[in-house]
Amino acid sequence: MRIAVTGGAGYIGSHVALELMQAEHDVVIVDNLSNSSEVSVQRVADLAGHAPAFYQTDIRDVQEIRRIFSYHSIEAVLHFAGLKAVGESVSEPLAYYDNNVNGSLQLLQVMRELGIRQFIFSSSATVYGQQEQPPFAEHAALGPTNPYGHSKRMVEQLLEDLCVSDPSWRVAALRYFNPAGAHPSGLIGEVPRGVPNNLMPYVLGVLTGRYEQLRVFGQDYPTPDGTGVRDYIHVMDLASGHVAALDYLQQHAGFNVFNLGTGCGYSVLQVVETFEQVSGHGIPYTVLPRRPGDVAESFAVADKAWKSMSWRAERTLQSMCQDAWNFAQRNPEAY
Ligand code: NAD
Ligand code: UFG
Repeated sequence: MRIAVTGGAGYIGSHVALELMQAEHDVVIVDNLSNSSEVSVQRVADLAGHAPAFYQTDIRDVQEIRRIFSYHSIEAVLHFAGLKAVGESVSEPLAYYDNNVNGSLQLLQVMRELGIRQFIFSSSATVYGQQEQPPFAEHAALGPTNPYGHSKRMVEQLLEDLCVSDPSWRVAALRYFNPAGAHPSGLIGEVPRGVPNNLMPYVLGVLTGRYEQLRVFGQDYPTPDGTGVRDYIHVMDLASGHVAALDYLQQHAGFNVFNLGTGCGYSVLQVVETFEQVSGHGIPYTVLPRRPGDVAESFAVADKAWKSMSWRAERTLQSMCQDAWNFAQRNPEAY
């Protein structure tokens, strides 16, 4: 298929673009490079053996998107472009609603105009509410608690309504749990800008000497070792999950939602220990109070994707840490 990947220079989009190219799809990457670099597109080309088409364009530039989608006769859009920092979304809500909600809306309007009806959306486990205990199945109560989460949920709702209005749409909203790891080559991976908010990139910053110690946010949660538990999923598993979802959409119209997680939770200290094992280095840490807004545990019921799309996450926490560490060592200056 001829597929547009918005945000394809970013962390998850670059891995998915590569997976699509390796599955013989024609890939067109559209990214404004606000949180990424063209180097990752070059690396994807190196790994695939041929280059994807690339446009440094904002998804809200309707004229340009229309031109690109028509020129390439795009048949499906995988939509990763957006802003993703929870804390920043609280201080900059307009930027988040503009990029994530308005950006998606503009993209969908162009798609409708051109008769493109297949869409895969990067949603997040952050849409689940705190009124239920994990594990979260897709039908669990929703209740995001910050503008970023609201923006994801708003787009899901928009997509659901769109599919009711016109049954020819084929849409999958994929709710990622905690993406981690990198391509095993060490050529593409996560390159956080500024001080990372997330656990894994921060631990890597400690391992590479950028930060003195990890700050563990809370050791008084009702979890086995008192630290927060999350469902980390290897970015390579996420990538194959997108190809599975695209295959699924060839047989299933309408709005479909899937968790992409492993179904297993690991604590902050288990992640630290695993990084210590794969790197052979100790990771100093200090325990601070809980981070506002954090939950004790979040992990998926991952059965639906397995039953419907025959997809499940295969890679272990060890392989996520190993591949992330390999990427960090090979790219000390990032890119
Ligand atoms: P990322 O920042 O690495 O990738 C997003 C890409 O989109 C970047 O390359 C950025 O330059 C581009 N972009 C942003 N706004 C754009 C715009 N208006 N026009 C064109 N390009 C634009 O982030 P990621 O971790 O790869 O996340 C990809 C998607 O997955 C995002 O939608 C994110 O919300 C979602 N998601 C991520 C996580 C996570 O923890 N990484 C978890 C759940 C969901
Ligand atoms: N943590 C620390 N120290 C740090 C960073 C994190 O102890 O420096 C802890 C957190 O308190 C939490 C766990 O590590 O217990 C994981 O935190 P992350 O920030 O890595 O991930 P979150 O689960 O908070 O959030 C991530 C993304 C969200 C997304 C969510 C679900 O940041 O955007 O996963 O997909 F919505």
